[in-house]
Amino acid sequence: MTDRCDFRCVYCMSENMNFLPKRDLLTLEELDRVSSAFIRLGVKKLRITGGEPLVRRDILSYFRAMSRHLDSGALDELTLTTNGSQLEKFAGELRDAGVRRVNVSLDSLMEDKFAAITRWGRLPQVMRGIEAAREAGLGVKINTVALKGFNEDELFTLQRWCHDHGMDLTFIEVMPMGDIGGEKRLGQYWSLENLRARLSERFTLTDIAHRTGGPARYVRLEETGQRIGFITPLTHNFCESCNRVRLTCTGELFMCLGQEDSADLRAPLRSSESDGPLEDAIRAAIDRKPKGHDFDYSRQRLDGRMSRHMSHTGG
Ligand code: 5AD
Ligand code: SF4
Repeated sequence: MTDRCDFRCVYCMSENMNFLPKRDLLTLEELDRVSSAFIRLGVKKLRITGGEPLVRRDILSYFRAMSRHLDSGALDELTLTTNGSQLEKFAGELRDAGVRRVNVSLDSLMEDKFAAITRWGRLPQVMRGIEAAREAGLGVKINTVALKGFNEDELFTLQRWCHDHGMDLTFIEVMPMGDIGGEKRLGQYWSLENLRARLSERFTLTDIAHRTGGPARYVRLEETGQRIGFITPLTHNFCESCNRVRLTCTGELFMCLGQEDSADLRAPLRSSESDGPLEDAIRAAIDRKPKGHDFDYSRQRLDGRMSRHMSHTGG
């Protein structure tokens, strides 16, 4: 939706990011055309990401337009991943547009740590956003990036808080994305193997088959009945069951987060008023979707490090 964001999370962006000129962005009408083409070709779930999708001007008009595909039954689900900062304002309208669930990224429940990791974010605002979402009847899933020496000590606080509020919780291993300004102190890799081992000191963990088409694996905590997700790009190659592709705000389609390969959809989109060339380009691109990512055994770069930022493709 946008590469912009009102936060500057240390593992995601540098403090002074260069953003794309507005003319390079797909307009909301163009985003509607591309989304509708994907839906015609069989896509059943749309997840809107950024940057922070809710900072894009007039974004609600896009959501409202997409609700026609929910109404017709062509689309099963319209969701978004957000930092929560604008949810207080938009939760009700999102619900009216047919959104039923949101993923909120949140790495700490302590105000000072939250401000340190997001640089520009403020926890109370996000808390009000989450509250507004729940009041509007939206399901909330919390996504937490596991960071060594940063939120290790909040594992059980986060687990408990999610349980008390009926929210799912997924942990994500920090991925080597983009130049983020050499911030070493925050944002170190904490293996989810270790996180999982610590959870199992207090709870009985049962692997469950629950899948969302994405890369997460889930366990149930038997004592609470709670579902906890793990996204482990580094310790496991999670890709074989991932059916996602990601479209950037300039119309590049990435078939995998961990690879450089992309297809330009903006040219076919703008080349013709008919959607034929666009649909052909989408089909050709999907045929190239790789079996796995290249983070740890890159054929393209020595360390598998991706040169683009996470805010470029969304999570
Ligand atoms: N590694 C792992 N997760 C990341 N995110 C952003 N950058 C990274 C990274 N380098 C996460 C956000 C959010 C989701 C969209 O992606 O925290 O949960
Ligand atoms: Fe913004 Fe999300 Fe990146 Fe943080 S992780 S800077 S909230 S896009």
